[in-house]
Amino acid sequence: MEKFVIQGGRPLSGEIEISGAKNAAVAILPATILAKDRFVIENVPDIRDISSMLQILEVMGATVETLGPNKIAIDTRGFVSKTVPYELTRNLRASYYLLGALLGMYSHASVAMPGGCNFGGVRPIDLHLKAFQALGTVITTDGGVIDARAPRLVGASVYFDKVSVGATINLMLAAVKARGLTVIENAAKEPHIVDLANFLNLMGANIKGAGTDEIKIEGVSELHGCDYSIIPDQIEAGTYMVAAAAAGGDLTIKNVIPKHLEPITVKLRECGAGVEEFDDAVRVTASGRLTACNIKTLPHPGFPTDMQPQFTVLLTMCEGVSVVTDSVWDNRFRYVDQLVRMGASISIEGKAAIVTGVDRLKGAPVRADDLRAGAAMIIAGLCAKGTTEIEDIIHIDRGYEDVVRKLRGVGAEISRVDFPSPTAGAVKRA
Ligand code: UD1
Repeated sequence: MEKFVIQGGRPLSGEIEISGAKNAAVAILPATILAKDRFVIENVPDIRDISSMLQILEVMGATVETLGPNKIAIDTRGFVSKTVPYELTRNLRASYYLLGALLGMYSHASVAMPGGCNFGGVRPIDLHLKAFQALGTVITTDGGVIDARAPRLVGASVYFDKVSVGATINLMLAAVKARGLTVIENAAKEPHIVDLANFLNLMGANIKGAGTDEIKIEGVSELHGCDYSIIPDQIEAGTYMVAAAAAGGDLTIKNVIPKHLEPITVKLRECGAGVEEFDDAVRVTASGRLTACNIKTLPHPGFPTDMQPQFTVLLTMCEGVSVVTDSVWDNRFRYVDQLVRMGASISIEGKAAIVTGVDRLKGAPVRADDLRAGAAMIIAGLCAKGTTEIEDIIHIDRGYEDVVRKLRGVGAEISRVDFPSPTAGAVKRA
């Protein structure tokens, strides 16, 4: 077992380089199934979710070659399988994209229901399945395995009554080679939807409107390999922006698309932090106590739910009372208990957290309940007086490349500590 040990109270100063976007990569990698060819993909984040996805593709017959740091080649010419067992999907929520990709390629997919973060609640995929059905797919479920098959996928008009990133992506993957036109209405508009559309279009697809709420996909009969570079990770960048505002300092966050960060930038400025935007970098400066502000999570371009736990940590130390409302997920405040143990003053009322700012958090043993809750614990530890130990960091490793090295490079005192057994002594690693 491993945990992070953080000595809080050091400002963050210097430069941090952002990795490729996890949520784009977990869609783009399975999209390679849609052609039997070779792909070269750059800016692939070195994180657990990506190794899980690559492992699945390899087991199914693709070959994966590392060409350099964050650069891989995937060859799908030997791809054979249409079945993905539970042993492979259990640790990866986004494994459900294999359903859309396999359906799109073979009109047949059999995929075990995924694992991954569940924020303490149910994460339904009914919209994904309804969208596949609209294209003529028959779906059966047995023992946690979804079997989807169609004689031939046929384009259709699909209106989502709730904006869903996953359902939009899955429908794009399934429809890209379907016969005729597919129109997705009330589509998600997240940056990774646009990135996937760009990747598919480079493969020879005909997708228009990604990034708006209506996406039109004219099915094509053949797709081919391509070279592609994945966009920077909006949430990783946002996490370090908020960390700098909370811990204080002067941090430049490089390899970002500042426009993707605007919902976070606006809120940080409202709290009193300085945010300067450059072509592909942002600089966050903060000193002293910031002021409270209200946050409401919404689908893009609203404030991202995946930044809600991290921003809540900042608000625990702001002057005044903040209200944080999560309108995307029902149950995304489970981590609040951990912050309260560190001295935060937070009460939950329905879908909102009422946060009354305190002078300072105090270090404590806490755990990472899920990926973004884990990131929130890191920020809390960086700001707290004394030592914070974070357990269950496997969740953080799913989505943050080299978090210890990146933070130590800008002045944080954070280490990854091995615990071979509960009784043996701890061994410190840099
Ligand atoms: C993706 C992100 C996740 C982020 C979320 C919202 C990836 C791999 N994960 O998750 O980090 O928190 O977007 O920005 O990109 N819903 C249904 N039925 C469905 C699907 C979703 O009711 O079939 C609901 C969900 O319960 C939730 C809302 O729709 O309340 C949004 O979920 P969705 O956008 O689908 O999230 P994911 O794609 O799972």
